[in-house]
Amino acid sequence: SVIVLDFGSQYTQLIARRIREIGIYSEIFPYHTSAEELKKHQPKAIILSGGPNSVYDETAFMPDPEVFSLGVPVLGICYGLQAIAKHFGGNVESSSKQEFGRAKMLVSHDERESMLFKDIPDSDVWMSHGDKVTKLPDGFRVTASTANAEMCAIESFGSKAALKVFGLQFHPEVQHSLYGKQLLSNFLIDIAGITPDWSPKSFIQHQIEEIKRVAGDSTVVCGISGGVDSTVAAVLVSKAIGDKLHCVFVDNGLLRKDEATKVMEFLKPLGLKVTLADASDLFLGRLKGVASPEKKRKIIGRTFIRVFEENIHDEKFLVQGTLYPDVIESVSVKGPSETIKSHHNVGGLPKRMKLKLIEPLRELFKDEVRAVGRELGIAEDILMRHPFPGPGLAVRVLGSLTKERLDVLREADQIFIDELKESGLYQKVWQAFSVLLPVQSVGVMGDKRTYENVLALRAVESTDGMTADWAHLPHDFLSKVSNRIINEVRGINRVAYDISSKPPATIEWE
Ligand code: XMP
Repeated sequence: SVIVLDFGSQYTQLIARRIREIGIYSEIFPYHTSAEELKKHQPKAIILSGGPNSVYDETAFMPDPEVFSLGVPVLGICYGLQAIAKHFGGNVESSSKQEFGRAKMLVSHDERESMLFKDIPDSDVWMSHGDKVTKLPDGFRVTASTANAEMCAIESFGSKAALKVFGLQFHPEVQHSLYGKQLLSNFLIDIAGITPDWSPKSFIQHQIEEIKRVAGDSTVVCGISGGVDSTVAAVLVSKAIGDKLHCVFVDNGLLRKDEATKVMEFLKPLGLKVTLADASDLFLGRLKGVASPEKKRKIIGRTFIRVFEENIHDEKFLVQGTLYPDVIESVSVKGPSETIKSHHNVGGLPKRMKLKLIEPLRELFKDEVRAVGRELGIAEDILMRHPFPGPGLAVRVLGSLTKERLDVLREADQIFIDELKESGLYQKVWQAFSVLLPVQSVGVMGDKRTYENVLALRAVESTDGMTADWAHLPHDFLSKVSNRIINEVRGINRVAYDISSKPPATIEWE
């Protein structure tokens, strides 16, 4: 595999992803992982990521020096390049001009052509740095430059050529670096000699073996929600251990219209053993009169754990559909970022119940999970479902919940989603849903004055839910949805469309 050492760059996960796009398996480790430890994973190449620090800060992050003696090629990106320069005795200085954005890279062409730049012409690259290398370490040469960074790409050379150490000031993992992927491919395939054999199929085979090895003869439980991640995770685990896997689907009374029935229905052909735990009354009872979003989340989290506990037996392992974007914060050198919302309401589960975790999707991004699901034969309409938050409609009926308000929201949301599917827009957005506001407005229906609820429609485009743009849905479409909702759903007399992006707004309203 390829190991990416994380120095805290916002782009670290993008590096891992690009590597997989090339068809190669990669893993991310914190920058301080010892060479001894890395060796156990038998890396064929090591990449040092970018990072927010300066190599001359007192507390600068440096890799274990032995990383350069493992006998595998090393590529440093941005901060990684500077760490290489420092380690090998070059000089790095803070640049008078910080450089963010596109720059024109000129590749040095001479008889010693660099393997890293094979088939790469002068082209745009994406820069994001304050410091730059000002003195080349001995045994290195410059292979590319930009107007602002003369030593934009360097590599070990002559007596040090065998070390195969390379550094880039720019970010090849960012799409704006036009030949970035080619460059990574040159490094991994041509220089490190790795065969690209990562695919959803090989991933599944590898995971099945791994799950068998880890779980042995133990029984395993999975909390299934009908979402893409838990469904794919459960099917993958069941391929490995068959009916030693037991799934629990908790109906918390906060699901969408007929969702519990529909989910049980589509899980049936997947060969999973699923227990449906209907706990709607318990959840709604506990949530009565609670208006604060954080309190709602805490109550839902705690209640979920209780219901889940009641439905498990003597399982030793818990399957979770954790994806890579959820993992990165715990891997990151910066530590978890500030809590904006207490997501991941099942996070407390394993510690208390002494269940060990199986998280077969923890290296993947959402679209990769979908590709794996496809390979596992899961139907397209399951795989393309939008994300749905654990606390469900509780955070979409703003303020205190009642069964009636939940039902009003359900009816309206069903119309919105049906229309999106009907018009082929559902799959073009990351997430779409309705929010029932704790606001009443005056309207007129027939000859009568009405004083009823306002509904907000939300649709966003995003790649991972971390940032999002409101979706520019066609006006005709919005008009149709609004008409249908106001005419067909009793209790709503006004529809608004949310045009806030994240940040500064969030995707959900609570
Ligand atoms: P926000 O609202 O934070 O949402 O921009 C980002 C993504 O996370 C989902 N979300 C949640 N998922 N439990 C979950 O499992 C939660 O408490 C929760 N809150 C938000 C949200 O739907 C979006 O996809």
